[in-house]
Amino acid sequence: MMIGITGTPGCGKTTVADLLRDMGYPVLDLKTTVGPFVLEHDDASGSDIVDVDAWADAFPYTEGFVEGGFAHYLPCDKIVILRCRPDVLRERLASRGYSKEKIRENLEAEALDVILIETADAFASEQIYEIDTTSTERESVVRRIISFAKGETPASFGSLDWSEYIADVI
Ligand SMILES: Nc1ncnc2c1ncn2[C@@H]1O[C@H](COP(=O)(O)OP(=O)(O)OP(=O)(O)O)[C@@H](O)[C@H]1O
Ligand SMILES: [Mg+2]
Repeated sequence: MMIGITGTPGCGKTTVADLLRDMGYPVLDLKTTVGPFVLEHDDASGSDIVDVDAWADAFPYTEGFVEGGFAHYLPCDKIVILRCRPDVLRERLASRGYSKEKIRENLEAEALDVILIETADAFASEQIYEIDTTSTERESVVRRIISFAKGETPASFGSLDWSEYIADVI
């Protein structure tokens, strides 16, 4: 089974990926696979612009977890979306030294549910599991992901509402 872990930058994907690896689960860091599909580097945001469609078309089905903000473009069997309340996400991104513009872009995406909407477009509801990492311990996030992957926890998403933060980030 291929299980995607997606989410806005800073929501905790790599954190849980590292813990899953420590437990012996296979986890592919998708950032390591996009190299040939980088179209240009955006100096303003400091991010690479990737031809996501070409990357996804060329991506071989991979057993285990695939982690990265593009995971929901892949034909995963199940997909986990990590979320973080925008005021807390702001602190996480600021502590990385991100520019104001890059922080704003990411907070806006999180507050507007961009990844959730893209995921819900591409997957059936039974495949999607959303986890709020704002004040959930990392180990608990990992336990929930494993339980969902094994089919012990049912799909669930759509219960979070960051709309009261939209005005702060736009
Ligand atoms: N469950 C959690 N509780 C508190 N802090 C967390 C949690 N998960 C991650 N963090 C913290 O949030 C920050 C961002 O986490 P991480 O690097 O895993 O995000 P990411 O989703 O992989 O981001 P990117 O898409 O940029 O790679 C880190 O400082 C990490 O320690
Ligand atoms: Mg990461």
